Amino acid sequence: MINLCVYASGSGSNFIELHRYSQKLDSSFCLKLLISNKLNCGAVEYAKNNNIKYEIIKIGSYSNYQIYVDSMLSCLNINNINLIALAGFLRKVPEEIIEKYNQRILNIHPSLLPKYGGRGFYGMNVHRAVIDSGEKKTGITIHFVDKEYDKGPIIYQEEVSVLNGDNPEELSSRVLKVEHRAYKMVIESLIKNNFKFQNRIIKED
Ligand code: GRF
Repeated sequence: MINLCVYASGSGSNFIELHRYSQKLDSSFCLKLLISNKLNCGAVEYAKNNNIKYEIIKIGSYSNYQIYVDSMLSCLNINNINLIALAGFLRKVPEEIIEKYNQRILNIHPSLLPKYGGRGFYGMNVHRAVIDSGEKKTGITIHFVDKEYDKGPIIYQEEVSVLNGDNPEELSSRVLKVEHRAYKMVIESLIKNNFKFQNRIIKED
């Protein structure tokens, strides 16, 4: 069984979806831990109400960066975490963790990377930029995390149409539905294939 840790800072809908799935009999992973940098967020609220172990790890609570990284590492070790899924985590994952969990950290992003990725492209900003640029298609990207923001090897992309008159909230809610379905499916398939990843999959709508 794979022990999954989700990192989230926001409403946590992807985290919730992964947790619900992990409780099914045919799940290959167990959602062991939530790491967040925010005490007051939907993800932590859900973890509290559902008896999921969570840790609030905020850089500002440590006297230096190394202690922050060490405490994150020891938290992952104690919980025997072998896979990490970022789901709206609004901080950079420390390089030491990226090295240690090489090809074992995934991220989900609400656009077709490399478009609308990188610094500043998070939350509604992404969908607003897509609409303002007159794109007809957007989508989701699931990729491995490496040292450069939103640039790790792409595993899976799925397109979502931008409809006439869409506002960022409407577009976001359709994109999120696709995220919820795809994240667990991609994690399952990586685990079943022993993390052997060959070609990225692009699904057109
Ligand atoms: C999602 O759109 C995800 O792609 C991005 O942040 C958002 C998180 O949403 N990285 P939620 O907190 O899972 O609802």
